[in-house]
Amino acid sequence: MEKGISRNEYNVLNFIKNGSWVSESSIKINNMDDRMIASAVSYLESKGYIDVKRSLKKYYYITDEGKKYLENGLPEEIAIKILKERKSIALDELKELISDYKIAISNLARYGIKPNNGLLNYNDAALEKIKMIRSCLENPQECDMETLSLLKRRSLLREKNYNERIIKINDAGLKILNEFNPDIYIDKLTTSMLVNNSWKNVRLRPFDLNPDAGLRGSGLHPLTYLTERIRSIFFDLGFTEMHGHFVEYTAWNMDMLFIPQDHPARDLQDTFYASTDFDYKMENPEIIEIAKSVHEHGINKYPGWGYKFDENESKKLVLRTHTTVNTIRYLYNNRKSPQYIFSIEKVFRHESVDWKHLAEFHQIEGAVYSKDASLSTLKWFMREFYRRLGFDDIKLIPSYYPYTEPSMDVIVKVNGREIELGGSGIFRPEVTKPLGLKYPVFAFGLGLERLAILYYKLNDVRDIYNSDSEWLRSYKINL
Ligand code: PHE
Repeated sequence: MEKGISRNEYNVLNFIKNGSWVSESSIKINNMDDRMIASAVSYLESKGYIDVKRSLKKYYYITDEGKKYLENGLPEEIAIKILKERKSIALDELKELISDYKIAISNLARYGIKPNNGLLNYNDAALEKIKMIRSCLENPQECDMETLSLLKRRSLLREKNYNERIIKINDAGLKILNEFNPDIYIDKLTTSMLVNNSWKNVRLRPFDLNPDAGLRGSGLHPLTYLTERIRSIFFDLGFTEMHGHFVEYTAWNMDMLFIPQDHPARDLQDTFYASTDFDYKMENPEIIEIAKSVHEHGINKYPGWGYKFDENESKKLVLRTHTTVNTIRYLYNNRKSPQYIFSIEKVFRHESVDWKHLAEFHQIEGAVYSKDASLSTLKWFMREFYRRLGFDDIKLIPSYYPYTEPSMDVIVKVNGREIELGGSGIFRPEVTKPLGLKYPVFAFGLGLERLAILYYKLNDVRDIYNSDSEWLRSYKINL
């Protein structure tokens, strides 16, 4: 353990050595940026060399739209320039001249330049207002409340709360400041110092080698631990692990799963589409034709969706929205029955994040392709899978997915808490037949993070990814 303070920490202590309360943002030290200052302050606080008060502050930052206006001119700024030259202008003419016409007009009206018989008349009072708005965008921290709230409403500025630290050196700090002047104590021995014997003349910063200063071993992240447990359950049951890709063609992610091209799940609201300049080649271009034929005309006695399929839609790239895409590709390439397959991988959804939703999360995906795959074997499997993880009480309820029939959602109950963990079902013939499969497939896709909050008795999926090191060091498996 290092004892004492480094040069950065020394500089901060030196800055506040007169003993008054100083806000962190007012600390200015040569060659130290805000981040370096913040980390020095955190260190000094953790060692008890400073007293710290926190006060909730608001911080304003400019949005992309705000930046655009700052560079190219605000709409009303452009309008007033024209107006100043012309003294008066017809609305229709102004409309032709500027692009954000509506925004310009409504803001000019706010500054007292209102249209009169279809004409705008110049008035210099507006210039002052516009100047204020511009300077507010340039320096939001110095802006008055009224302009601030206007710019927030116009989405040109956004507000963020943060805790500002106000610090003051204490006795321990003063002592360490005197003891560990880095001009006297050095913290690095160099080879040349050893060679030329000058190390004998320097004072080295002491190290505290006392092990009770807290040596800690490393361990698995709780989510990794859970993932490994789940993998071993699958391996014990004779499953093979599959791997897929973050970026997929909609042909695989959706079309081959018989999800119609106008299905709401394909919406931009739910799905992240990806684009690239990279000249990519599709691995199995034939699947587009296969999917088109099933979507348009069905297969055997199954009628299909009966709409006009768009091949270009199939070539769009998405961040995969589920790992069922892994199953589909795997089975297309491995048609010999039986297959017992699983993957535990990340998926992406355009989701508002809350206690049970993340925009990036993992799915436990599995499928069994066998002549024995049926609803009852699926139900048995779901119960057995969760039982092995310690969850005895699960509920299977009817549900709907475009690619399974019947479909079931899995709900786990723990201490009176019920949480939906995912979907499952038997793939429809419109999915299995085009893949070239002869027997039924049961499949499921389950949320890993939601399972993890039950497993670790947390209340919020976001807690799994916070870096609360105390929890990471001491998490217990509660089952
Ligand atoms: N893919 C579905 C989802 O992401 C889950 C599922 C998998 C449903 C397999 C049925 C069969 O929610």
